[in-house]
Order: sequence, then C-alpha cells, then structure tokens
Amino acid sequence: MGSRLSEFKLNFVLLIALMRIGQGSAGFCHTRACIECGRSGNLAGMRILSGIQPSGALHIGNYWGMISPAIELQERGEAFYFIADYHALTSLHDPVAIRRHTREVALDFLACGLDPTRATFFRQSDVPEVAELAWLLSVVTPMSLLEKCHSYKDKIAKGIPPSHGLFAYPVLMAADILIYESEIVPVGRDQKQHVEVARDIAAKFNAQFGEVFRIPEPEIRDAVATIPGVDGQKMSKSYDNTIEIFGDEKALRKRVMSIKTDSQPLEAPKTGIEENVAWQLFRLFVPAHESAKMLIKLRAGGTGWGDLKAALFDAYWNYFTRARKNRAGLAADPEEVERILRQGAARARPIARATLARARQSVGLGP
Ligand code: ADP
Ligand code: TRP
Repeated sequence: MGSRLSEFKLNFVLLIALMRIGQGSAGFCHTRACIECGRSGNLAGMRILSGIQPSGALHIGNYWGMISPAIELQERGEAFYFIADYHALTSLHDPVAIRRHTREVALDFLACGLDPTRATFFRQSDVPEVAELAWLLSVVTPMSLLEKCHSYKDKIAKGIPPSHGLFAYPVLMAADILIYESEIVPVGRDQKQHVEVARDIAAKFNAQFGEVFRIPEPEIRDAVATIPGVDGQKMSKSYDNTIEIFGDEKALRKRVMSIKTDSQPLEAPKTGIEENVAWQLFRLFVPAHESAKMLIKLRAGGTGWGDLKAALFDAYWNYFTRARKNRAGLAADPEEVERILRQGAARARPIARATLARARQSVGLGP
C-alpha cells in the first residue's frame, strides 16, 4: 500500500515536472488544463476573448502578459481577439495615429503567431453593436463601481483629460466581454479589476432582467502578470520604459543596456539577483537550463550586470527572429491584413447581434 502510494506520488511529481517543461520558460499556469490551480479538463468549445488598444508600439510586457497567452490559448478553445480602437479613442485624438497604430498592432499580433484560421481577429469598431450594449450596461452600472477603478485615476494622474469615455471605459470593456459570451479573458494583472467589473455588471444585469449574460473569468499567469520596464516600474507605453517587440536593432540594444541595475563591481559574487530587472526578463526568454547556468555565473563573481544585459539582448533578439520575418512578409501585403480583419468582423458580428438582441428584448426595447 505504502509503495503504491509513493509510486503514485512519484508519478504525480513527474507529471507536474513534465507540465512545467511543456509550459516553457515563463512558467505558464492558471489555464483550465492546469492541475496546479485546480481548474479542470480542456478548453474545447470554451470562448476565449481579449483585446489590445492601438495606442502605440507593442512591448514585451504586452507580449508576455497578453499576446503569448492568447496565442497559446487559440490552440485550445474558440478564441476571439480584437484591436480595441474604440477604447484607444479615450486617450488618443489623432485619426492618423489611430489608423497607423491599428495597422501596426494587427501586424504585430499576427507576426507573433495569431492564426486567423483558428482565432477570430477583428477591429472592435467593425462590430458597432458593442457600443449599444455598453449603453444598456451603463444604466445598471453603479457609479461607485467605476469610481473604484485604479486605471481611471492612473490615467488622469498621467495627464489624460478626464472625459466621460475614459470614466466609462470599463463599461465598454464589459460590453466587449459579454457580447461574445466570453468565458476566459487572458490579460495582464493591470486588467484584472476591469474583468471583475465586467463580472459585477453581468451579475447585476442578469439579476434585474433575467439570465442574459455568461459570467467571464480573467486568466492571469502569475509568472508574467507584471513585466517590469527598464526603470523597474511596470512596463507600459505611458511610462517610456518599454522594450518593444519589433524595432531597430541598435536602438533596442541600447534600450536593453539602459536597464537600471545596482553598482556591484564586476568581480563581486552577485546578490539580489531575483530583484534585478535584467534577470527577471532574461529568464523569460531562455530555457531553464540556460538561466540556471547564468545564475551560477552571477553567483560566482566575474560576471557583471552588463554581461547579463548583453545576454538578455541576444536571447530576446533571437526569440523574436521568426516573428520579425513574419512581420516583414505581412507588412508587404497590407490588403491581406485588412482582409483578415474584415473576415474576423464578419464572423464576430452575428454573435454580437444575437447577444444584443437578447439584451434589448430583456430590458424592453423594440416591439
Ligand atoms: P500599456 O500599459 O503599455 O498601455 P495596455 O494597457 O495596452 O499596455 O495592455 C495591453 C495588454 O498587455 C493588457 O492585457 C495588459 O494587461 C498587458 N500588459 C501591459 N503591460 C504589461 C506588463 N508590464 N506586464 C504584463 N502584462 C502587461
Ligand atoms: N482594456 C484593455 C487594455 O488596455 C483592452 C481591452 C478592451 C480588453 N476590451 C477588452 C481586454 C476586453 C480584454 C477584454 O489592455
């Protein structure tokens, strides 16, 4: 009995180890198939949805927090990904820039591996039904729920004019999530509160008007929930601390070499490695055995933070080699990218129309 139990334990440990290897260097977890966090079974038929604003060049925080999980999940459920151009209007009033960023974000996402034959990929504003649903949701959304949102306060603190749209941003995001009957929403940690607001709004609406909406769940991966920027704060377009996914090699090398570090001399055996931003990023881009080797070298002394940053640059640059090639190919064919987005909208729109029709009916609109 005892030996069968220990055999079982050994098998269990091996299974966990194999899953970890399969998860790659970022330690992916918290998906429905993950036995560590207790979610069951597979995602077949599950609706997965996420969006990204076209408000600037995408960075490796966006990549690890949202793009990479989204791309992985497209293999395992029914994925809907969109470019949140309505949302971008809350902080950017430059039509040329909005269109340019929309094109660029589409290219970036596709180049990183979004497969439009598996995932439905579209521009948010090509399905305008979502704006009407946002209105229906807004009449049941308590002001106090929105007043609690950190992102509104952060944005006005950064100088974005406090408009009604900026304040109501989470309601539109709830409409995005609910209109496609989404079950899983892969995002970085900064969006968790918004997904919780969507859950609260859905529950309130359902309680008042009947079971119209499915209640979604956020999907946040601990290991990559908040990627630090070159200054140690959360990496964000608005903090000027990003390392972009795509761009000029020389400029990006300079950026990586500018990561803030402490002043331990080259010869010193390094301490505080876990807190070092270059180390935290390096670990994401290399397999476990390579990061283990680097750790030994840093602890031994004679390897400086500069060496670590140079190794980080190489790992990061190599990691995106294929994506860069993909991107160059796609950029040469802008009509194809436009075709993909339109085709995505054509697939998404009937679902949005059906949900909106149910919501209109339930509140008493129409005959
Ligand atoms: P930014 O802060 O640069 O404007 P967005 O708000 O457009 O980024 O975020 C797009 C997606 O990328 C969201 O799912 C967000 O949670 C994720 N994300 C952004 N920055 C990070 C980060 N530093 N670490 C992890 N995920 C991030
Ligand atoms: N607010 C998200 C961000 O800034 C973008 C977004 C809009 C989104 N609608 C969404 C993300 C719906 C997930 C689901 O990153």
